[in-house]
Amino acid sequence: MTEKLTERDPAKTPNHFSGPMRCPVGLGDVDLFSAGAQEHWYDAYPILHDQAPVQRLEGEGYGPGSDGFILSKYDDVALVVRDPVRFPPTLFLALETMQASGQALEDQEFVNAMMVSMNSLRPNNELWRAHRQELTDPWVGPGAARHQAMIEAAASGLIDGFAERAIDGEPIDFVRDFARPLPQIVMANILGFPHKDIPQLADWGNAQVAAFVYGKGHRNQMTKEQTTEQFTALQEFQEYTATAILDRRSAPKDDMISFLCNVEYSALNRKLTDIEINGIVYAMMIGGLETTQYAIAEQAQLLCEHPDTWAQLQADRSGLRGFTEEAMRMRSPTQGLSTRVTSQDEVFQGVKVPKGSLLHLRWAAANVDPEEWECPFDLNIERKAVTRHLVFSQGPRVCPGAQLSRLEQVIAWDALFDRFGAMEYAADNGFEHQPGIMLGTLALNLKFTDMGA
Ligand code: HEM
Repeated sequence: MTEKLTERDPAKTPNHFSGPMRCPVGLGDVDLFSAGAQEHWYDAYPILHDQAPVQRLEGEGYGPGSDGFILSKYDDVALVVRDPVRFPPTLFLALETMQASGQALEDQEFVNAMMVSMNSLRPNNELWRAHRQELTDPWVGPGAARHQAMIEAAASGLIDGFAERAIDGEPIDFVRDFARPLPQIVMANILGFPHKDIPQLADWGNAQVAAFVYGKGHRNQMTKEQTTEQFTALQEFQEYTATAILDRRSAPKDDMISFLCNVEYSALNRKLTDIEINGIVYAMMIGGLETTQYAIAEQAQLLCEHPDTWAQLQADRSGLRGFTEEAMRMRSPTQGLSTRVTSQDEVFQGVKVPKGSLLHLRWAAANVDPEEWECPFDLNIERKAVTRHLVFSQGPRVCPGAQLSRLEQVIAWDALFDRFGAMEYAADNGFEHQPGIMLGTLALNLKFTDMGA
């Protein structure tokens, strides 16, 4: 295999150099799910677009005898997510299987509170919409605006924690000191969990996303031992949340759990049960922590690589929203998910995809598809209609927490621009992306310069 590494500048993109996998130059080198592939995903996408925009994964479908297919073109992924009837979510199929067993979901092995709550609160597309509008939008959707001051206080408190060391010239692990704790504090505040419990909540959060980190292949498959370990850890989380729900039922506060205890779900004409609330809390935690952390950490890398953009945004914050959206488009936190099935025979890009195939929706590849995006690898914070990206998906199942995450990102950079004159990679920055399906660094050492220095 020909080396292509010399085409990159290691000082600018150190992450592309540290993984065990070498840079792919042809289709034969591309395996999006192999060890170290994270360091070269963005080298692999142009190859897929050119040579295999619909890549078959033999025998890796939803059921026995079916195949998986990686969709990497923007039009294909967008078509699929906008039509939940033609391309039903795997979750609906999983729920049907669980229901068919005749046993209550609560009593089935490896069924978490989130699945139980989905089964009763949003088992179909209509209820999915009602669930979002009535139960999550007021807190993490359009209603997230109410958290502005709280998020600003969290961001500036975290900066206070490392600013002095940073100004003294100490390299700062930006993930540990800022990008990770910010969404942790924000979600704890929204749900109403005390800050002293954040380390424990973080451990449970890690257990929740274990399949996306340690799972194998496009289906994020874990071993039975790993799944057992995960469910044992999360049993404690379920009990912890159950206690919080009991507490809020008797003494409501201004938080999301109290809201969920009291809200009348008009779609079902009733209030929510404890296990249903527990399931919604689970969904908020699994969606709301790592994803935003990864977005902020990748944005930091882009700003280290584009100091001119740092200067431009610091002087004029009106471009901040364009920057965060463009950065997510270029470095999508959730790179791909295998969550839709074909309900009829389909043809994508001339490739036959039979009924019953499992579709791996590669959001990140769609977001750099050159047929949709002019110069897709250029950071252009004035890009027209950038929010048509598929970072949060689209259509009826679009991410319910997108508004909250967007707000956190904009506030994070606003606060950092207020405090520091410049930011750059620290010399000892041999960071790697973590394994799995998310684009996340475990550490990121940065140096900051005082304002006016
Ligand atoms: C940069 C941050 C984020 C990214 C990249 C992201 C991305 C996504 C994507 C791609 C999906 C799949 C949608 C589909 O299947 O069509 C999703 C679903 C979801 N997200 Fe997010 N998300 C982010 C932040 C958040 C936040 C902050 C929350 C909660 C506070 C959240 C909660 C959820 C939930 C609960 C779902 C599942 C919806 C369902 O049940 O199908 N996400 N997200």
